[in-house]
Amino acid sequence: MCGIVAYIGWQDAMPIVLDGLKKLEYRGYDSAGLAILEDKKIEIRRVAGKVAALENLVCENPLVGSIGIGHTRWATHGVPNEQNAHPHMGVSDRIVVVHNGIVENFLELREELVAKGVEFKSETDTETIAHLVEIYYRETNDLVLAVRKTLKKLKGAHGLVVMSTVEPEKLIAARLGNAGGVALGVGENEMFIASDIPAIVNHTRMMTFLESAHLAVVTRDGFMLQDLEGDSVNGVVEEVPWDAVAAEKGKYRHFMQKEIHEQVRSLADTLSGRIDYESHRIWLPGLNLSAAKAKKIKKIFITACGTAAYTGMVGKTLIEQIARVPVEVMVASEFRYADPILEEGTVVLVISQSGETADTLAAMEEARSKGTEVWSIVNAIGSQAMRVADGSISMQVGPEIGVASTKAFTAPVLDLYMLAVYLADLRGGLEEARRIELIEDLLSVPSFVERALAREDQVREVAERYKDMQGALYLGRGINMPIAYEGALKLKEISYKHAEGYPAGEMKHGPIALVDEHMPVIVIASQDPWYDKMVSQIEQTKARNGKVIAIATDGDERIGELADEVLWIPAVPWLLSPVVTVIPLQLFAYHVAALNGLDIDQPRNLAKSVTVE
Ligand code: G6P
Repeated sequence: MCGIVAYIGWQDAMPIVLDGLKKLEYRGYDSAGLAILEDKKIEIRRVAGKVAALENLVCENPLVGSIGIGHTRWATHGVPNEQNAHPHMGVSDRIVVVHNGIVENFLELREELVAKGVEFKSETDTETIAHLVEIYYRETNDLVLAVRKTLKKLKGAHGLVVMSTVEPEKLIAARLGNAGGVALGVGENEMFIASDIPAIVNHTRMMTFLESAHLAVVTRDGFMLQDLEGDSVNGVVEEVPWDAVAAEKGKYRHFMQKEIHEQVRSLADTLSGRIDYESHRIWLPGLNLSAAKAKKIKKIFITACGTAAYTGMVGKTLIEQIARVPVEVMVASEFRYADPILEEGTVVLVISQSGETADTLAAMEEARSKGTEVWSIVNAIGSQAMRVADGSISMQVGPEIGVASTKAFTAPVLDLYMLAVYLADLRGGLEEARRIELIEDLLSVPSFVERALAREDQVREVAERYKDMQGALYLGRGINMPIAYEGALKLKEISYKHAEGYPAGEMKHGPIALVDEHMPVIVIASQDPWYDKMVSQIEQTKARNGKVIAIATDGDERIGELADEVLWIPAVPWLLSPVVTVIPLQLFAYHVAALNGLDIDQPRNLAKSVTVE
């Protein structure tokens, strides 16, 4: 959840750390801090609030030095004030730590430390780490050993970096469990450390990623990896393919708006390299799938969190309709506690933008422990969910910075569609004419999305009329039911308005009681097999004086007459309609929040990568 950046080299560390922290603010932004080491002395600056506040503070009084660590926080233990902001120091001010994760045995460790006379300066769990390293250092005179001993004491999942005056020419980075990544960036006589690629990709693309229970001793000249016993381990440095420019806002006001508009390109990118245009066949080599293996699949169990889980729900219809393989969907936070029945022939498929979400990774572990094959659809290159899966499909959409997910919703829908066609083909259940039709439809998606995006002005006008609404109901059915959930999630995430997504057929069993002239009902009524049902839904809502905002297909006069407002979309084959119906809902949420002057890219209480349970 939190973001970590560190630097050791020949340049001034402070601007590098600050710039990296800004790129990581999507991970948490309630307080920030940095520490710079110079002349065997550590100077710390910390603030409550965002990295911009930290930048203002250090601008007045810059810290000079070529070794530094920084942190942007999403509070778990202790309120987001200056005292609780990282870095945290041990008692003697010789050792500082930045940390991402939760020390699950924090109370126990704190008691032990207090009994030894340690005085705590903050309410955080992280401070225990700083004290433990300090105590073990006193005992051993060996910083790396002290960190290893500390790691062995910690329960939970962690990413951390330690800097010290006792061994000043090195930083120690470590990872335990699934608290998010720790990337090491290799430069010329300089090294970078960060929780995620965008923080350091401006400086180097040569990176390696720490595995769980490994630590890196990082100096200006490079790094050495070891496990918790101190035995050397290998790390492969690879060039990450992302373009740093992709993490800039460009002409847009917010990353979210930019990412909504990027979907024409990101959808084309997710298709790229996967379609043989001659034979009209899909190829997903990352899954390591043969026809024989595909035929043995009896069920796909999709598990994911948030927006990714809604993608999975769309995937259920796609895979069941196209490949006729049964699919079950469960949110990942429930999966490992549900003791899921994973019979032979079941594949567990996780979907994750970050590839770091703690619940999703725990679901993967649960599936693994039951001997089940695990696949992933992931965006973040090098992430845990990508690396540990037996087969993986990369979303290929580039960094997503806005906390509210947009392009990482639509791309995996296409990935799941491709998976469905691929499976159907391998299992021998797809006639050639049908396959060609499915592929032709797929290829048109980026242009449908482009046409839907071209109506942004119209969506903004509707948002202006509804920007003061108290809340909204979103209704969808069949393949567009998850779009109702996703539309409602987008609105609540960034505008803080209460919004509920509902299967339209359930409206009469309760939510209809909410309908009056103040409650807008957003109805997804595209040309899909559930269209007539959605029209009667609009009629039922109008009969109760409800205000209807419909998502409808160009030229649909019936809905044009019935609804109060229509957000028009181009005609699209129904299996692919969710990728298009979601566009006006993303834009609507965005403009309602923008018109209310809210902090769209960093909404309150949220974080983009939820690496704690
Ligand atoms: C957080 C984010 C959501 C995201 C979810 C799953 O809650 O705020 O936007 O959908 O995590 O994230 P993942 O990285 O696993 O897709």
